[in-house]
Amino acid sequence: MAKIIDGKKIAAKVRADIKERAATFASETGVVPGLAVIIVGEDPASKVYVRNKHRACVEAGYRSDIYEMSADTTEAELLTKIEELKADTGIHGILVQLPLPSHLDEKAVLEAIPPEKDVDAFHVVNTGKIMLGDYSFLPCTPAGVMKMLEYENIDISGKECVIVGRSNIVGKPMAMLLLHANGTVTVCHSRTKNLSEVTRRADILVVAIGKADFITGDMVKPGAVVIDVGMNRRDDGRLTGDVDFDSVEPVASAITPVPGGVGPMTITILLENTLTAAKESIGK
Ligand code: GUN
Repeated sequence: MAKIIDGKKIAAKVRADIKERAATFASETGVVPGLAVIIVGEDPASKVYVRNKHRACVEAGYRSDIYEMSADTTEAELLTKIEELKADTGIHGILVQLPLPSHLDEKAVLEAIPPEKDVDAFHVVNTGKIMLGDYSFLPCTPAGVMKMLEYENIDISGKECVIVGRSNIVGKPMAMLLLHANGTVTVCHSRTKNLSEVTRRADILVVAIGKADFITGDMVKPGAVVIDVGMNRRDDGRLTGDVDFDSVEPVASAITPVPGGVGPMTITILLENTLTAAKESIGK
């Protein structure tokens, strides 16, 4: 029987602490952290994520601006909006919700966000800093995973850490954070040979591959810590992760559920990054 890592509970604790620090900062400086989120188009999952971000900002006492732009928005229009927000001193973080409609150049858009307002840490400058281990903006989802491990007192140093998935948003920065914490890190992907042999070596297994129920109990070492970053929708509309919870839970020592695992932690780190951006904007 694995311990179920309750992301909602951990996120609530961390958010209460952030809220308190943001209030202290605002009363000392008069600066209220401000986040602007741009969503282009009508992707239903993205709309839910953006609504959750807005709610979290409001609960933390932040300014929260949501810009909903139509699916046929041109790149020039989107870049103009980013320029406006770049000049707005009350906005400390700018986030463009991904994925963008296919006619928009994601790379060009992300590079237009100034690094000091890039609270997603997607800009090349910020991704480079993460690689070097010298950064102020944490990559939201991987840093959320690290925070959970810290709360659960799970030691990383010297452990075999296996990541399944090599995305720029999760897999690659996750590898860096685990490496900075002295883990022995392996990154697997769709071309990895003998995947289950590799996953079975993991003391800490992080799965972010975007395939429902992909990791099954026979792929997990007894006693492993299993972190499920996946967020897939089943045909019946229910959310499910990349880990087959029912077969993995009896094998693991700890496991994150979906929903209620990593998801709430991601937004928590976004709040942290926005507070950092607000502080740095006035040299604090
Ligand atoms: N779409 C899915 N995850 C994310 C995220 O962390 N940031 C942004 N901007 N878009 C996303």
